[in-house]
Amino acid sequence: MSSFLLLRSRLLTTATPAKAIVPPLTRGFRHSAISMGLSSKLKPAARVSGQRQDVWSFINEAAAASPKQPIVNMGQGFFGYNPPAFLLDAAKEALDRVDCNQYCHTKGRPRLKKAIADAYSPFWGREINPETEVTVTTGANEGMLSAFMAFIEDGDEVIVFEPFFDQYISNIEMPGGKVVYVPMHPPATGATKTSSAADWTIDFDELEKAITPKTKMIVLNTPHNPVGKVYSREELQKIGDLCVKHEIIILSDEVYDRLFYVPFTRIGSLSPEIANLTLTVGSAGKNFYATGWRVGWLIGPEHLIKYVSAAHTRICFVTPSPLQEACAVGFEKAEAAGFWDETIKEMKGKIDRLNAVWDELGMPYSEPEGGYFVLVNMAKVKLPEDYPFPPHVINRPRDFKLAWFLIQEVGVAAIPPTEFYTAENAHLAENYIRFAVCKEDSVLEEAKNRLRGLKKYIQE
Ligand SMILES: Cc1ncc(COP(=O)(O)O)c(C=O)c1O
Ligand SMILES: *[C@@H]1O[C@H](CO)[C@@H](O)[C@H](O)[C@H]1NC(C)=O
Repeated sequence: MSSFLLLRSRLLTTATPAKAIVPPLTRGFRHSAISMGLSSKLKPAARVSGQRQDVWSFINEAAAASPKQPIVNMGQGFFGYNPPAFLLDAAKEALDRVDCNQYCHTKGRPRLKKAIADAYSPFWGREINPETEVTVTTGANEGMLSAFMAFIEDGDEVIVFEPFFDQYISNIEMPGGKVVYVPMHPPATGATKTSSAADWTIDFDELEKAITPKTKMIVLNTPHNPVGKVYSREELQKIGDLCVKHEIIILSDEVYDRLFYVPFTRIGSLSPEIANLTLTVGSAGKNFYATGWRVGWLIGPEHLIKYVSAAHTRICFVTPSPLQEACAVGFEKAEAAGFWDETIKEMKGKIDRLNAVWDELGMPYSEPEGGYFVLVNMAKVKLPEDYPFPPHVINRPRDFKLAWFLIQEVGVAAIPPTEFYTAENAHLAENYIRFAVCKEDSVLEEAKNRLRGLKKYIQE
């Protein structure tokens, strides 16, 4: 049996234990409908039938095929532990209330809108109006889809920085938008020296050149997934000024806004002119370790928010009501409970805990300024020349091979970041691998034990 067949047969026989550790991923779509040769009437729409295997299925399949069971999963950014007790208790209580189990206003439960407005007004330095400047969405992701649905017509352009959160692309393309990519440049010495995530930079000439009369929106993500960069006030000011000059709507994805390890600026707070163009996106899932709850929101000026609400009404109608109520209680209690300070301390501790192993191995990484992902540069890892990569891995950039190799040889799953680049710019990140640290400390320690097994493949 060829080694590929061996991998395949393992895939079939070991699927059960791997599944226990790597939960079924809901993102992305396989292309089975095409290969099954369905009649043209049953043919799926192009928007869901991409030919290339998406990264989440890739990692699941690799995990199922690995002899190192169970796999330590540091791939997807879901938490390995529960939300705080005050949130869980609130959710349980909400389920006993008649009004919480029924439809609520499509813009969100009044208590949650108020709790968000109260929590965020201090950052904006003025009172946010909960009735006109906040809209609750079914996770940040659906919130962003609603924003694009609200403003994008066929052929409108949206600027996105690479690497990007993968859902942006389909969310922009579904209403007919065209994505215009601008790369973030990795630090020049990234392959040899650990550096700050701040050293991933935007070339502002490249950004300005990407702007055309059709540019309708720009997507910003700070703290950034996967880079861990927190955009500086100066960088945000430059981006904001360009958007005011060209009248471009800023969609600022700030889902990791409670996880920053350097000063964090919100672009919507820079000036009234910039605020007037800015939709700020938040996620209770990320804030409260409850990514499965699907509660998010947008904050912005009334003349933008009302159309986001209108789109959300057509897409989801409402966001699950009991979980909105629980998130409202979460915001009401978090500050007094010291939760926001604790969440920073805890996550920074996890980042440092994992990164100790890279220091030990002499492997450079980007020191995150925010969020819970670490990008590690694995240029020094020498992949054996005759390694039996299956055909669908051979043709992908080096980071996919690295990710496959890590899963097979050390039993740790992590994400190849070129998935978050266009083919043209993928080379910028092909030596990096993304690790999610939002896991139990014991899981991080087990990952470190396994990652020490990379030592014999490291070439200085
Ligand atoms: C940058 C970024 N934006 C948005 C989301 C989605 O957030 P939500 O789960 O609230 O939809 C994620 C989730 O991984 C993310 O990394
Ligand atoms: C904000 O935008 C609205 C609608 O376009 C406009 O009427 C208002 O003057 C703007 N305010 C500022 C401060 O730019």
